[in-house]
Parts: sequence; C-alpha cells; structure tokens
Amino acid sequence: MADRSCPVTGPGAATLSAISELGIVPVVTFTDPELAEPVLEALCAGGLPVVEVTLRVPGAIDVVGRLVDAFPDAIVGAGSVLSVEDATAVMDNGARFVVSPLTDPAVMATCLRRDVPVVPGACTPTEVRRAQEAGAELVKFFPAEPMGGRAFLQAVAGPMPAARFVPTGGLNAANLAGYAALPNVAACGGSWMVPRTALAEHRFGDVSRLAGEALAIVAQARGRD
Ligand code: 3PG
Repeated sequence: MADRSCPVTGPGAATLSAISELGIVPVVTFTDPELAEPVLEALCAGGLPVVEVTLRVPGAIDVVGRLVDAFPDAIVGAGSVLSVEDATAVMDNGARFVVSPLTDPAVMATCLRRDVPVVPGACTPTEVRRAQEAGAELVKFFPAEPMGGRAFLQAVAGPMPAARFVPTGGLNAANLAGYAALPNVAACGGSWMVPRTALAEHRFGDVSRLAGEALAIVAQARGRD
C-alpha cells in the first residue's frame, strides 16, 4: 500500500488528517439552499461526512453556518473562496476548512491565523511552491484534468516529494482510481457525487450511493479492500 501519511502538523491538522483518511472531498454548489441538509445527510449516509460548500451562489455563506450547526460531527468547509472577506465570513460561520482555486497569501494568512486549514489552488510547480511557502500543507491541484491530470502529479512527485495534493476539476468515478492510487494524493475533490439532476429530482439516495461507490474506489486504489 502506498504511504500517503500526510505531513499535516500545523493548524487544523486533525481536520486535514480526517479528510486525507476519507480520501474524498465532495464539492457542492447549493443553488437551492434548502437542499443543503438533505444532501449532507445523504453524504453522511454514504460514509462521507464531509462537504465543501462553494461560494458561487448567493446564500452559500449562510449555508455553511446552517450545516455546521446541524451536523456538528461532520467536516463542513467552504470552497471557491477568493477574498479575505469571504474567508473571514465562512470562518465566522464555523467552516472547518477553506478551499480556493488559487493561492492568495492574504487569504491563507487570514485562515491560518485562526488555525483553520486552508487548501489553496495551484497548477504549476512554481505555484505549488508559493502555496507551500504561504503555509499550505495540502495543495488543491486545480483544474486537474485540463492541467495535466495524474501525469502532472506523477511528474512533480520526484522534484517536489513533500507536496501533497487534492486534485479537483474533472474528476469522476471513472478516473478516480488513477488519482487515488498516487502516493502524493491526499484526497480527491469533485462534484460528481452530487449530480445536479439528482438534486433537482430530490434523489438523495443517488448521492449516498455515489458517495459509497467513491469511497470503495479509493479504498481499492489505496490497496485497503
Ligand atoms: C471545484 O470548485 O473544486 C471544482 O469546480 C469542482 O470540479 P468538478 O465540478 O469538475 O468536480
């Protein structure tokens, strides 16, 4: 089995370790905030008590707060965080981790000052280094598929052995195993477990099933089944 023991020792180490252990970060954009609770309930039922709520729609910051209150044992974080203001707002609402598609040292410092782990985006070796220098223990490789996919992660493993990634962007049940098997992948992110059509039709059982399938794929890829 690959050793992906994650060098997470800084702020929020327990959260990052839990995410690495699960190996999956479901990314959800709640266009209908009323679906937030049933979706997280469905993810939990599928074995995935974690969600990254993107700030791409109005009301998303409030959704973070609602989910934190309703699911105190789940790992509720915020994604698509682009500003210090939004980072502050989601942390005020209890977000346990913050994700951004880019590396903004000011956003990172804001989160790390409050001991909230932040996973910044990067897609070149220089950007990965900038993210590490700003304090990132995990780096979101985004957008993963357009920027080289698992071939990029394999290529940087040699010259940057300490980097640990959360590839996101274009991942799905078909290509998940290839990412999850890589020793420098801490977790895989994506929205495929929460399809828009399933949400629109309130098919929350589909979300549980897809979450469970994703966990099984990761377990097999990591050699644990
Ligand atoms: C993100 O915000 O992390 C990505 O947009 C998720 O990418 P996906 O929808 O391709 O999984």
